[in-house]
Parts: sequence; structure tokens; C-alpha cells
Amino acid sequence: MDKKTLEIENLTAEAKECRKCGLSKFRNNVVFGKGNPSSGILLVGEAPGYNEDMRGIPFCGKAGDVLDILLSSVGMKREDVYITNIIKCRPPQNRDPEPVEIESCREYLEKQIDIIKPRAIGCLGRHSLRYFLDRFSFNVRGSITTLHGKVFEHSGDIFSRTKVVALYHPAVAVYDPGKIDVLKNDFRIFAGI
Ligand code: URA
Repeated sequence: MDKKTLEIENLTAEAKECRKCGLSKFRNNVVFGKGNPSSGILLVGEAPGYNEDMRGIPFCGKAGDVLDILLSSVGMKREDVYITNIIKCRPPQNRDPEPVEIESCREYLEKQIDIIKPRAIGCLGRHSLRYFLDRFSFNVRGSITTLHGKVFEHSGDIFSRTKVVALYHPAVAVYDPGKIDVLKNDFRIFAGI
């Protein structure tokens, strides 16, 4: 097993015991993340839903089917990226994550980023986009509707550059299948950076 995979596995084991916020009382599984931590490509959604909570795998329901379509439209598979969420446990009734929950989970996401050292981060939806715009201090206003498909570049130091891409959440195409071409186009931008 390579170093990054081992580090992610150790962190996953730690997160499985996490009781830092109230969501731990309701969860069936911690949905930590899945994919290739050496790919340099990180996709970050919002929070696990029902299917994800039952199986412990990110994006394994209907939104996940759309994500697979988007990945394959740019010649990628799940093994070519690492997929996670801003928070690792399902909020009741799939409500939006609360600030306190995002803060409690920050340590895990930041450790994932530290291990993976992504060159590209795809923000799936508005919560993820807000997290990364704030994290990298991008002084950008606007909603996901105006920002989707845009690339933000951050040069942390002379060795590292990270590009952040605003993407619609795949669930958008579950509720409005006519939007799939817009999502595919944004993915083309993401895959091309
Ligand atoms: N929606 C998300 O944001 N993440 C998942 O893992 C599933 C649905």
C-alpha cells in the first residue's frame, strides 16, 4: 500500500470514532471518501445522503449516477479522482449542513487535502464552493448559478498551485435532466485544467 493510501486509511479509522458533533448520533456510517489519493484531483460534495449513509460510500445514489456520467463524459473513472464531502455524516432529512457541523468536520477535510495535495479541486455545489473560496481567500461574490464553470487559481508557494473549479452539484441534473449538458461542459473545463 502506498503512503497516501495508508495515511487516508488511518484517518478514516479515526473519523469512524468521531463524536465531535451531533450528527454522530444519527449516522449509520461515516462517509469519509473514496478514490485515488495520488490522483491529484479532488472532488468535494456537500454531505452524505440516505444511500451514502447506508453504504459508507460517497455519491452512491442518484446524484452519484449523474457524477459517473459526468466523469465518463471526460474519459474519467472514479479511480482517477478522490471523492469526498465537506461533512462526513448525513444531516437528518438531508438538510443543509450547519456551520458548527462544517467546523467540526474541517479537521478531517483539511487533513485529506494535506495528504492528497490536490492540483485541482472540483467544488460540487454551493456549500463546497463557499468553503474553498473562503479557504483560499478568493474575494469572489456570486452564487453557483453565476460562478459555475469558473476556475480560481491559488499559488500557495512556489512549489504548489491549486486550481479550484466551481461545479453544479450533480443532483441538479437529477431534478432537471435538461441541465446535463451544462454540467458536462463545466466538467470539460475541470478535466482540462
Ligand atoms: N450529495 C453529496 O453532496 N454528497 C454525496 O456523497 C451524495 C449526495
